[in-house]
Amino acid sequence: MSPPHDNHKAGNFVVAFAHSVATRVRYSLRMTTAVVHPLIDEILSTRRTLLPDGTQIVADSFIPRMECELLYQVVRENQATRGIEIGMAYGISSLCLADALQQVAIRRGSSARLVSIDSHQTASFKRAGIHLLQRAGYDSVLTVVEAPSQLALPEFVMRGERFDIGFIDGWHTFDHTLVDFFFVDQLLENGGVVVFDDVGYPAVQACVRFILANRDYELVRAIGSASLPGAALRARRSIKRWIRRFARTDADPSARDVALFRSFESASAVVLRKRGADTRRFDHFARF
Ligand SMILES: C[S@@+](CC[C@H](N)C(=O)[O-])C[C@H]1O[C@@H](n2cnc3c(N)ncnc32)[C@H](O)[C@@H]1O
Repeated sequence: MSPPHDNHKAGNFVVAFAHSVATRVRYSLRMTTAVVHPLIDEILSTRRTLLPDGTQIVADSFIPRMECELLYQVVRENQATRGIEIGMAYGISSLCLADALQQVAIRRGSSARLVSIDSHQTASFKRAGIHLLQRAGYDSVLTVVEAPSQLALPEFVMRGERFDIGFIDGWHTFDHTLVDFFFVDQLLENGGVVVFDDVGYPAVQACVRFILANRDYELVRAIGSASLPGAALRARRSIKRWIRRFARTDADPSARDVALFRSFESASAVVLRKRGADTRRFDHFARF
């Protein structure tokens, strides 16, 4: 009888083979819905995953299925083969991205690349994310950087690296999210896309508003429904807005921007497309 880890490997091979056949069939039939990797299905339903030593642990931090499918669709629509993400955790978004990038790369006869930056992959997640991608056979696609994104991203910029898609799901304060975007933008090709998770958080939402009001980015899609602000919060916000009108010297956002902001007010994730390089004047600033 073969040792347990050999059975595991054989099982992984069968799963990967069945997944690749299902994906090829869907591609040839031009089906638009994504087949997520079977290991993603497994974790989403059991909420458990494996550590490198075989121990099973609870997985409690990952994007919902709808966003997994979104990542597949966005990679495919943009024919992306090079991705960079901030925030790996148990590797759910990483596996979606690696799998989707690889599918496009195979169709294009090129190779796929995913960079995952996570400062706590070992310290907090015991390398569960890295192990998940190894189980799926994506070791060669993945580069993991275990460092704070604000320190790791500039190194990619210095090396002149380029990506087709960025996924931002790290530390959700305004400043961290904006710094992640600031560098991801410099790594993105024109026409490339950046996906933000957890747009329901006010800080992430404000960051997306800043980008749409100030940078040459367009909103491609907003999905999900984060909980809408309650009536009391809405009333407080409009009173604050009304008071600020008398105290400020700068302009309010344009009516077009306000309508745009409303369109993703209750979203949980958004996709933005980079339309062009940054050509703003040194003192440009639009309220958001
Ligand atoms: C919400 S989890 C990511 C979930 C993952 N994207 C998924 O859906 O499977 C956030 C991750 O960001 C990482 N993180 C937080 N702050 C970071 C920073 N400054 N730099 C790099 N990673 C960070 C955490 O270690 C954690 O793994």
